[in-house]
Amino acid sequence: MASCLTVSPLLVQLQSSSKIRPCKWERSSSTPPFATKASASRTTSLPASEPGKLPMREIPGDYGLPFIGPINDRHDYFYNQGTELFFESRVQKYNSTVFRANMPPGPFISSNSNVIILLDAKSFPVLFDMTKVEKRDLFTGTYMPSTELTGGYRILSYLDPSEAAHEQLKRLIFFLLKYRSSHVIPEFHSTYTSLFQTLEKELADKGKADFGNANDQAAFNFLARAFFDTNPSDTTLGSDGPTIIQKWVLLQLGPVLTLGLPKFLEDPILHTFSLPPFLVKKDYQRLYEFFYNSSGSVLDEAVRLGISKEEACHNVLFATCFNSFGGMKILFPSMLKLIAGAGVKLHARLAEEVRGAVKANGGKVTMAALEMMPLVKSVVYEALRIEPPVRLQYGKAKRDFVIESHENAFSVKEGEMLFGYQPFATKDPKIFENAEEFLADRFLGEGEKLLKYVLWSNGPETENTTLENKQCAGKDFVVLFSRLLVVELFLRYDTFEVEWKKSALGASVTLISIKKASF
Ligand code: HEM
Repeated sequence: MASCLTVSPLLVQLQSSSKIRPCKWERSSSTPPFATKASASRTTSLPASEPGKLPMREIPGDYGLPFIGPINDRHDYFYNQGTELFFESRVQKYNSTVFRANMPPGPFISSNSNVIILLDAKSFPVLFDMTKVEKRDLFTGTYMPSTELTGGYRILSYLDPSEAAHEQLKRLIFFLLKYRSSHVIPEFHSTYTSLFQTLEKELADKGKADFGNANDQAAFNFLARAFFDTNPSDTTLGSDGPTIIQKWVLLQLGPVLTLGLPKFLEDPILHTFSLPPFLVKKDYQRLYEFFYNSSGSVLDEAVRLGISKEEACHNVLFATCFNSFGGMKILFPSMLKLIAGAGVKLHARLAEEVRGAVKANGGKVTMAALEMMPLVKSVVYEALRIEPPVRLQYGKAKRDFVIESHENAFSVKEGEMLFGYQPFATKDPKIFENAEEFLADRFLGEGEKLLKYVLWSNGPETENTTLENKQCAGKDFVVLFSRLLVVELFLRYDTFEVEWKKSALGASVTLISIKKASF
């Protein structure tokens, strides 16, 4: 998980709009499971354009006056317009999905906030091309948080593949993901079973149950048990992990977040100067000790790979707390919201598919059972397409080259910063029909061809994460645990309803009703 992550505990209460997503309880008896047709013609191909045949155009847009331009753009982005309108209005104004603007935070945190913005599925993938862009120190965008927040080390996510340490550290994360892979399914099952038991009790007592906080605890416990065979509550860390992580992440991502506070307070506190690392020093030390004491085998492997135990531990902590926990914190509420909103017919089909596959596999959730759940898989990809958890991606041009949108070609100069807002690329109407709609069947059958346009992992879903690229190291693990969430939901429930509000980084979701599995 990367550039935009978390919500401080405080902020959960500061959400803006509120909406109820109805999903009616009655089950459709007329629609047999699996009978809904995959949405007609889900595929669209890119318009044919021979390389070099599109009209060259100067990149429209400008950066405004020094200092003032970046602050104006920051205010538009956070307050005057909001993120989506910030981009949409400029696409209209310049009649182009590629243009120049400043990205937050700007002064005084970033020394240069000028970027070329890419907002379509054709230009966006240049950000994955390691021959064209450099990814050094730009994981969070046009600024880099203090390395004091990560033990003095530049963590893997900030390293370019041309740096030797990138390969060493990514190899270590691959080891972490592999060496206890057999524990993932059982640990997920036991952790999320108790999460849903807790939520059911709360729902019975109070008439609703907040998913966010319970999910935070469950996600952290699951990761600690699955990766390190350690139950946080059996250690001195207790249940403090998620709160500490949120504070620590806020210090790193504050400059690119809005917490919904009044502008006159929030802009100077979060976006103008970096919050000092000492605010979280003691807490971070507690997390570090937890990881150091739990990850013996991983640290031994690090030494074999030529990495010091200390550097390895800071990296393992970051991969678990920032990348993995941060990702689950955004993705799981988003999935719950989208699936609840898709309604009872989809729920019935999912329940049928999940329970049928588990039954056929001796009543157990196994990899073989998961392979018999194509609809679950498609639902997960559709959630990752429509709401990619990490929306902002950056890359710096290594040399002069030409990029193409659907309509034009543009020349980019060495050293210029490229930035893509991913939801616009993965909801590009030239690629996806009804791109704004959550279509559960979108990636079934022929629809699988569209997976190359699903980019949540910082690369096409059809490509693999490697030591040479910057694609998410946990790509397959993320798809696995997301499918497991859908499985747990539909083993337990025939249908469920939620309420949700927008939060600093996604949705804050409350369960308002469930119907327990009836077959
Ligand atoms: C929902 C969960 C996750 C999401 C949405 C996510 C997303 C991403 C994205 C977008 C990037 C690229 C950022 C950039 O350079 O612009 C990334 C990189 C990375 N992710 Fe994930 N991630 C998730 C979970 C995980 C997990 C479970 C792990 C491993 C335990 C992981 C480890 C990493 C690492 C190590 C990198 C840097 C890769 C490199 O430098 O080559 N992530 N992730």
